[in-house]
Amino acid sequence: MPHHQNTPEPASEGPAPELFTWEFATDPYPAYAWLREHSPVHRTTLPSGVEAWLVTRYADARQALADQRLSKDPAHHSGSAHAKGRTGIPGERKADLMTHLLNIDPPDHTRLRRLVSKAFTPRTVAEFAPRVQELTDRLIDAFLEKGEADLIHDFAFPLPIYAICDLLGVPREDQDDFRDWAGMMIRHGGGPRGGVARSVKKMRDYLAELIHRKREEPGDDLISGLIRASDHGEHLTENEAAAMAFILLFAGFETTVNLIGNGVYALLRNPEQRERLQRALGEGDTELLATGVEELLRYDGPVELATWRYATEALTLGGRDIGAGDPVLVVLAAADRDPARFDDPDTLDLSRRDNQHLGYGHGIHYCLGAPLARLEGQTAIATLLRRLPDLRLAAEPDDLRWRGGLIMRGLRTLPVQFGAER
Ligand code: HEM
Repeated sequence: MPHHQNTPEPASEGPAPELFTWEFATDPYPAYAWLREHSPVHRTTLPSGVEAWLVTRYADARQALADQRLSKDPAHHSGSAHAKGRTGIPGERKADLMTHLLNIDPPDHTRLRRLVSKAFTPRTVAEFAPRVQELTDRLIDAFLEKGEADLIHDFAFPLPIYAICDLLGVPREDQDDFRDWAGMMIRHGGGPRGGVARSVKKMRDYLAELIHRKREEPGDDLISGLIRASDHGEHLTENEAAAMAFILLFAGFETTVNLIGNGVYALLRNPEQRERLQRALGEGDTELLATGVEELLRYDGPVELATWRYATEALTLGGRDIGAGDPVLVVLAAADRDPARFDDPDTLDLSRRDNQHLGYGHGIHYCLGAPLARLEGQTAIATLLRRLPDLRLAAEPDDLRWRGGLIMRGLRTLPVQFGAER
């Protein structure tokens, strides 16, 4: 790439750490500390063969997330044709699901985001609290007697899928199909092959049919709300509505699985913090729960790096020259451990103040579902600690496996025990 030849190489001590290995997936934080220090805007080759820039300092990351010269539209990628549109979302390259919020720029983004914001208000989410509590309790009831569980499979995984299905207006009797399709996507994410492609297709066909049905018989769900909003002067095509439903499912599902999984794991590894939270909850104090869930997002957030961005023109970031068409990946997990922004960044402190972490992103693509994610995360963690007060890890941390995706960071399993010692 000739246009990078003038970019000075970063001053480094020793070789750059290997990225995207098994050890890296287990604990990427030492590698991120090295990058922040020695090569904060770092050119690398991803496992897919695509070359991209990794941005790891908080200040650069925040600036990049808000920079309008970095487009979300994969058409701006200068890479080879096969890499175009690779956003990390399994099976997403099907054109009709591509026109969603995380793949578009203003003015289309502004129009679609306004539409969905109308249907997805803080009130809608607040009204949803009793349902999330009921779901949480029902899932715990199912494994309570056993004295052990895999908190990913039995709890963190089903909770958000049922919650989003309810929100969208997927009838209860169809929700287990979604659980199966989503399970296929989360287990085999990363490429639109075989079973994943079939699951995405089934989900897409189902959503198209559901949107059609809701047009005839609207309810008080989000899909009906979207259709209503679009019928009042603002245009939303059926494809856009299907893409919107899909991105809500996709963006709101694995993220929340990992918020609960990574969050509970961090609490189990930090017993004094967990006891503090348990004590506060016992006294009816929920403030520590609110600041605590934000801290869990900062400390080991579900979104390791933000979805892809592409430079629409040559630009300089963190002192490096980025070429037009280059992919720029903002590493939220690295930015949120930056000692230049957070005191003692590698310490979990549930009452951390001034915690403006980037776990939900920043700028116009800031997470639309943050209020729902907070509701689910807080309900899940508070209920687990209340109902299973002696919850403990049933595996050695070294034996746990992390899913090595590029965008999401999360555990494959989280075996726990509770109740009488066995
Ligand atoms: C965007 C994180 C849960 C819907 C984002 C972004 C992040 C994020 C980092 C910005 C990505 C970027 O700029 O490239 C999270 C985390 C969650 C979570 C950590 C859980 C803990 C949810 C939920 C929903 C949701 C529950 C909805 C049901 C969305 C949507 C966008 C988004 C629609 C795109 C917004 C836009 O482009 O305007 N999320 N999210 N998220 N999130 Fe979330």
